[in-house]
Amino acid sequence: MTVEEIRGYLKEVRHPARQDADIVELGLVEDIEIGKGGVVVTLAFPKRKDPLEKYIIGATRAALIRGLGKDVHSEVRTVVKDESPRQQPQGLGTEMLADVKHIIGVASGKGGVGKSTVAVNLAVALARSGYKVGLADADVYGPSVPVMTGTEGITPSGEQIDGKDYIVPLEKWGVKWMSIGYFAKRGQALIWRGPMASNALKQLILQVNWGELDFLLIDMPPGTGDIHLALVNDIPMQGAIMVTTPQNVALADVEKAADMFRNENIARPIYGVVENMSWFTPAAHPEERYEIFGAGGGQKVAAQLGVPLLSQIPLVQGIREAGDAGQPAALGTGPDAAAFLALASSLASSLASSLAHQQADNMMANNQ
Ligand SMILES: Nc1ncnc2c1ncn2[C@@H]1O[C@H](COP(=O)(O)OP(=O)(O)OP(=O)(O)O)[C@@H](O)[C@H]1O
Ligand SMILES: [Mg+2]
Repeated sequence: MTVEEIRGYLKEVRHPARQDADIVELGLVEDIEIGKGGVVVTLAFPKRKDPLEKYIIGATRAALIRGLGKDVHSEVRTVVKDESPRQQPQGLGTEMLADVKHIIGVASGKGGVGKSTVAVNLAVALARSGYKVGLADADVYGPSVPVMTGTEGITPSGEQIDGKDYIVPLEKWGVKWMSIGYFAKRGQALIWRGPMASNALKQLILQVNWGELDFLLIDMPPGTGDIHLALVNDIPMQGAIMVTTPQNVALADVEKAADMFRNENIARPIYGVVENMSWFTPAAHPEERYEIFGAGGGQKVAAQLGVPLLSQIPLVQGIREAGDAGQPAALGTGPDAAAFLALASSLASSLASSLAHQQADNMMANNQ
């Protein structure tokens, strides 16, 4: 009986969640020991709990008994490996983001506050202002960028660079767009669970040939779940802007989301708050404002977070219609387009001043 022979038996044990690779090639077999008492196989599991751990241990026992026969005593032990390197899908690194200057999340605590509307229009407004812009729709559970940009049904092409496959983003109005919606049928993405969604998302950002960009905006899903952690852990997101509506309920949620960015392990700056649906303006009376969701909420939350209120976007029928029609309002000439252009310029200046502060802090630290 040899170690090689036993390794052969172990190669019959497949990990059903890992494209059916066997436990030997997955590096789960830490040790094979042949002694007087029999065979001891030690399996190493990563610290993060593998839901199939029990199944794999059972399958390993069965494979040993099958191979060695009932008379040879065999035992399966397990160890937990602390230093399991984080697996990037397909060995993806951040090389495609090398020429991207600012990666900025567009976040909100609550759904439906107009995050995607703001992200899409901000991207268009930044491009109109002369910046090179990309937008990644990270809402893997409910992607809305394809509809809002009239790119639904188009499948991005692929290309190979240095033997690796990359996705070419769609380009329209000077913005590079990427969304899981280009690859999934409507509603299909909704059934994805935790790690799968996180991996898809990483691919959607890391496996895209973004080229040279001033801004890569990331339309984040609402809330503070696994996806958000994956985003901030694996993607060099520089900071975020928070979208809220003026009501108090939405404010409580935005604070929760802001806490996530400010938590000491994440520590990313928030560049400002965008108050959406600030007032209702009827198309026929552009000078009238009806503050149907209350007033001053965005200002209050910005003050609480100690960041600027970047912009107030009115609730106008045209913004919704433009979104549904796949022709973002920011392309136009009306007051709604002006609001998004103003947001683009206040974001650029808030970012510049935050970076200047950071540089000053670094210089102070270096001089000490
Ligand atoms: N300022 C606005 N004026 C008019 N309609 C708006 C405005 N902002 C958003 N809407 C509309 O409100 C709806 C929700 O907006 P949107 O999809 O952008 O929200 P979201 O925060 O991204 O939602 P989700 O949490 O589902 O991702 C859409 O129909 C959109 O067109
Ligand atoms: Mg959205």
